[in-house]
Amino acid sequence: MRLGILTGGGDCPGLNAVIRAVVLHGGRRWNDEVVGFRDGWRGVIDDEGFVIAPERASRILSRGGTILGTSRIQPYTTADGPRRAVEALQRRGVEGLIVVGGEGTLSVANRLHRDHGVRLVGVPKTIDNDVGVTQLTFGFETAVQTATDAIDRLHTTAESHNRVMVVEVMGRHAGHVALWAGIAGGAAAILVPERPFDIAAVSGDLQRLHEGGTRSSVVVVAEGARPMAGTLEIPEPGVDEYGHARLGGIGAIVASEIEARTALETRVTVLGHVQRGGTPTAFDRVLCTSFGVAAVDATHEGAFGQMVAVRGGGLALVPLAEATAALKPIPADLWQVAQACLS
Ligand code: F6P
Repeated sequence: MRLGILTGGGDCPGLNAVIRAVVLHGGRRWNDEVVGFRDGWRGVIDDEGFVIAPERASRILSRGGTILGTSRIQPYTTADGPRRAVEALQRRGVEGLIVVGGEGTLSVANRLHRDHGVRLVGVPKTIDNDVGVTQLTFGFETAVQTATDAIDRLHTTAESHNRVMVVEVMGRHAGHVALWAGIAGGAAAILVPERPFDIAAVSGDLQRLHEGGTRSSVVVVAEGARPMAGTLEIPEPGVDEYGHARLGGIGAIVASEIEARTALETRVTVLGHVQRGGTPTAFDRVLCTSFGVAAVDATHEGAFGQMVAVRGGGLALVPLAEATAALKPIPADLWQVAQACLS
């Protein structure tokens, strides 16, 4: 069979591990040839791709980024995009397309399958871990580890100076990275988009901790975190060329408010794209390899319009329509765990 693969949206650790698994497993088990499209949907629209040789794929397991490139360009916002994409796939004889992406890329996949009958299977990627239905997206675990390592380092310098450290992590609509890294890093406060925060309460908690003898406290803030209405003025974010809010900056606002309200010396660190770069953890490599193998097998079973997912501790196929219907918020029980151990 001739398969296609693309990686779309923001990059994340593990994309190359998925590509490798698709090329190796597809070639060995099914005698597939795999065409890689460049820069996500753009490569399909512009018919720009190349056959990925197994020798090329075999040594990319641990490499960050994506050898295919990625972008946020997509057919439904490109002139004649859906027709061009469908025709390019037909011209190249692609019988099954593996679409590796987050909510935006997978929503496009769902529409192309539903409205144009494109034979495709999705693989959920994003450090934000906010794709619906799957318990995990790949890249998330690596990002959490990166953020946790940073928090561990921030604790030691904070302790030397008796400071509050505010660390801003990614998480546009959901606070999974902030929540996990906050628990793993022993944060004093965790601010996430799903739970508007009260800066007075956060500052009061920090004051009490330091009065009680704490010399280092870390506040983890997701970039999409917002204050409770009427408690703190924050500027509206700008938008990028694809209409997405350009986030970042809430950490600095929170830090200066804390300092003003508590008189505790406070510093801010923005982790930004550091969380998306670099080599995937061993866990993510295993997850990516499993996703890649499952996606290839799904195309051979004709399970088009589906996405590979983690469900109940194992892998499953779920309809793309379901997976893209709503973003996945942080789980309430893990939020309670975090609140129980803030320190
Ligand atoms: O979608 C993943 C994500 O990492 C978000 O958390 C973040 O807001 C966004 O990508 C940043 O993307 P860009 O690469 O456009 O700066």
